[in-house]
Amino acid sequence: MSTPYGRFDDPRREYVVTRPDTPLPWLNYLGQDDLFGLCTNTAGGYTFWRDAKLRRLTRYRYNNAPYDLGGRYVYVRDGETVWNPGWKPTKTPLDGYECRHGLGYTRIAGSKDGVEVELLFFVPPGENAEVWRTTVRNRGEQPKDLTLFSFVEFCFYEALNDMSNFQRTYSIGEVEVEGSAVYHTTEYRERRDHYALFACTREIAGFDTSRDAFVGVHNGLHEADVPLSGTATNSIAHGWNPIGSHQVDLHLDPGASETFAFVLAYVEQGEQPKFERPGVVDKTHGRALLERYRDPGAVDDAFAALQSWWADILSAFQVDCPDEDAQRMANTWNQYQCMVTFNLSRSASFYESGIGRGMGFRDSNQDILGFAHLVPQRARQRILDLAATQLADGTCYHQYQPLTRQGNADIGGDFYDDHLWLVLSTCAYVKETGDTSILREPVGYADTPGSGEDLLHHLETSIAYTLSHLGEHGLPLIGHADWNDCLNLNCFSTEPNESFQTAGDVQGSRAESVMIAGLFLYACCDLAGLYRHLGSRDDAARLDDAYDDMLAAVEEHAWDGDWYLRAFDAAGTPVGSSASEEGQIFIESQGWCVLGGAGRSNGRARRALDSVHERLATEHGIVLHQPAYTRYHPELGEITSYPPGVKENAGIFCHNNTWIHLGWCLLGDGDRAFEYYRSICPSTRSDVETYRAEPYVYAQMIAGRDAATPGEAKNSWLTGTAAWTFVTLAQGILGIKPEYAGLRIDPCIPKDWRSYSVTRRFRGVTYEIRVSNPAGVCSGVRSLTVDGTPVAGNVVPLSGGSDTVVVDVVLGGDLR
Ligand code: GLC
Ligand code: GLC
Repeated sequence: MSTPYGRFDDPRREYVVTRPDTPLPWLNYLGQDDLFGLCTNTAGGYTFWRDAKLRRLTRYRYNNAPYDLGGRYVYVRDGETVWNPGWKPTKTPLDGYECRHGLGYTRIAGSKDGVEVELLFFVPPGENAEVWRTTVRNRGEQPKDLTLFSFVEFCFYEALNDMSNFQRTYSIGEVEVEGSAVYHTTEYRERRDHYALFACTREIAGFDTSRDAFVGVHNGLHEADVPLSGTATNSIAHGWNPIGSHQVDLHLDPGASETFAFVLAYVEQGEQPKFERPGVVDKTHGRALLERYRDPGAVDDAFAALQSWWADILSAFQVDCPDEDAQRMANTWNQYQCMVTFNLSRSASFYESGIGRGMGFRDSNQDILGFAHLVPQRARQRILDLAATQLADGTCYHQYQPLTRQGNADIGGDFYDDHLWLVLSTCAYVKETGDTSILREPVGYADTPGSGEDLLHHLETSIAYTLSHLGEHGLPLIGHADWNDCLNLNCFSTEPNESFQTAGDVQGSRAESVMIAGLFLYACCDLAGLYRHLGSRDDAARLDDAYDDMLAAVEEHAWDGDWYLRAFDAAGTPVGSSASEEGQIFIESQGWCVLGGAGRSNGRARRALDSVHERLATEHGIVLHQPAYTRYHPELGEITSYPPGVKENAGIFCHNNTWIHLGWCLLGDGDRAFEYYRSICPSTRSDVETYRAEPYVYAQMIAGRDAATPGEAKNSWLTGTAAWTFVTLAQGILGIKPEYAGLRIDPCIPKDWRSYSVTRRFRGVTYEIRVSNPAGVCSGVRSLTVDGTPVAGNVVPLSGGSDTVVVDVVLGGDLR
C-alpha cells in the first residue's frame, strides 16, 4: 500500500518513507546481538548495550516536544545555510528526502542546493559498534566547500539516574579525546570498566565534547551554536553534559563525492588494564575497533555481512501466495518484528521508555513462538533464562533485567498465567528443533539458588501450580491478573497514587479466570504431547486426566449461553456475562477456550466465535469486550480505568485478535480467519492519517469503536502481536506446523486461493511445499506427496538425509 508518506520496496525489503513529517515518528531498530539502537525516520533515537536501563550509551528525552528529538545528527553547513539530511533538528526545508528502513539498518538521504548527504546507520553483526556511513555528493554545477558536524549526546549509562539525579550527574561527566575519537569515560575512574566512544574515520578539522559549547546554554538543537557559527570549539567537557561532535571540512567538485563513517562504539575492558598511565584510560580495544573501520571497504563489507545475515535468517520461511500484504508481512516485516520483540521484549521502543520494563515472563515466552524457527539456539537460551526466574512454588518474576538476568519485582507479581506460557514456549522449541536435551538442563529456581532442577521440572511445577490454585468452580485463580494485565479482580484500588499493577492482595481471593482455564487446557495438551513423544505414557495420561477435569469445569461453569464467561470476580460474580451491566463478552476467553479444545463436541466453539463476530468484530479489528466500561469499577481494576475504546477497555488489542484467527483456523473457516488477519495487518492500511503508526509493523492497540479516534494505532513494535500473527499466518492459515514427527500440513486458506507455496527450513532441511486447491476449499488435505512418493496422512516425515525435500499438497479432502 502506497500512501502520501511512503511505500514498500519489497525486492529490497525496505519501507521507503517519502516525507519526514510522518503522522508519528516511524521507528526502526539497529542491532542484532548486544548493541541496539532505536532510529526514527528523522534519525532520532538512542543506543544502548544489552539493557536500555542499565547500559544506555546515548541520551534521549521521551515524550519531548516535538515527540522525537535527539538522535544521530549530522549538520551540513553550506554557505550560510545549515540543514540536516534527516530534516531534524533544524527542519530546514529540503529539496529531497528519503528514509529507507531496512532489516537492521536505516538509510536517510537528504538533499539541498545540489548537495546530497546519505547516512546509512547499522550495527555490523557481532560488533559493539554503530556505524554511520556518510556519503556526500555534489550534484550541482559549482564546486562546494562544505562543513559537516556530527552530534551525539552521551548518557550516563543508568538511564533513570541520568534523567533524575542532576545534583550528581552535572558533576561527574568526563571525556578524553584522541585523534578523532571522543571517549566518554564518566564513572570509569570508579566502578565501571567500560566506556563509549564516538569517532570519525576521516580526518577532522575540530571536535566538541561539551554540550554547552556545541549547542549553547539557551539554545535548542535546531539552533546549535557550532553549526551556526561554522567552527568547532575543541571543547572538553568537565561535568555537565558530555557530547561527541566532529567537524569535517569537505571540498567537492561538481559530480564528486566522498564517503567516510562515524562510529559510535561500546567497549568493555575485560582483562585489559583500565589505565595506560595514571588518569589516562587504556584505549587499546577502542583503537583496534576503529582501525577496523578506517578502510571504506571494511564498512561496505560489514554492511554486506549484515544483509547476508538477514537473508539467511529469513530463508527459514518464505511464502509465495495470492495476497501481496500477507506475503510481504510473512516474508519480511512480520519475521523482522518477531526478531525485534524477541531481542527487546517490551523494554525499549518509542512507547516503552527502556527503564520501566525489562524482559517480561509471559511476553518473552510468547515471543519465542514466532522466533524459534529463526535462531533456535537463541530461543533455547532464552527459555532457560526465563525458567531461571521462576520461583520454587511455580509463580514467576513478571520480568527480569536483561543485563543481570535477575528477576525484578518492581512491576508486580502473582500473575497466575505467567508460568503456563513456559510450557508453550518449550514445546514450540522442541517441536521446531527436536532438541529434547533442553528438558534436562539444570535451571533451578530463583528463590532456591543452586538447586538445579531441570526444565522439565519447571514445566511440571507450572502445571501443578495451577492445579493447586483452583477456585470454587474448579477454574484457575487469577491472582493479580492473567494475560490481561488490567483485569485486576483483587485490586480494589481507590488510591490514585498507587499502581494498579502492584496494588491489592491476592491471598485468599476467590477470583477465577476462564482465560487461564483455556490456556491451561492448551498447556496440558502440549505437555501431554511432549510426554508421548518422550515415551512417558503415564505422565501423558496424568495430564490427560487433568485436562478432562478442567474441560468439565469450563463446560459446566463457564458457559454463559452464547459465549464463555471471562472470569468470576472476588465476590463470585461472573465477569463477561450477558447479565453484566458492562463488559458482557470478552475476546480472550473465547479464543483460549476454543484453542484449548472446549466447545468442540457440543458446538459451543463455533457459537462462541460467532458471538465474537456479531458483537466484537469491527472493520479495524476485533475489540476486547463490549460494552466498553463507562465508569470505574474497583472490583475489576485497571481495565475500567481507561476511556472507553482504548487499551484494555474495549480497544482492539491486536495480540488477542490472533487467538480468534487461530480459532477459526481450527474450525476450518479460512475465509473468516483471513478476513480478520487482513483487518489488523498494518500493510493493508490506506487510512494512514487515522492509523498514524508505522505501516510495516504491528501496533499493540488500535482504538476501538467506542473511542473518540477509532482506528488510531498506538504502541507499535513491541507487542506479542508479532509472534502471534506469525503463528497465525504460518501455522494457522498456511498450515505449516512443526511437530515432533515432522511437518504437519494443515492449511486453512480463503477458498479463492488456487495455490501457494512455502519454503520452510526445518531441522536443517529445506522443504519446498507446493499447495494446490483445485476444488476451491478452505481446508482439508486430499493428498500429500513427498519427493514424488505419496504419503498417507498429512504429516511430512522428517527427511532421511536429503537437504531439500519437495512436498506437493492437494486440498479438497478431509485430512486435518
Ligand atoms: C501488554 C503486556 C502484556 C499483557 C498485555 C495485555 O502488552 O506487555 O504482558 O499481556 O499488555 O494486558
Ligand atoms: C498497563 C497497560 C498494559 C500493560 C501494563 C504493564 O496496565 O495497560 O497494557 O501490560 O500496564 O505495564
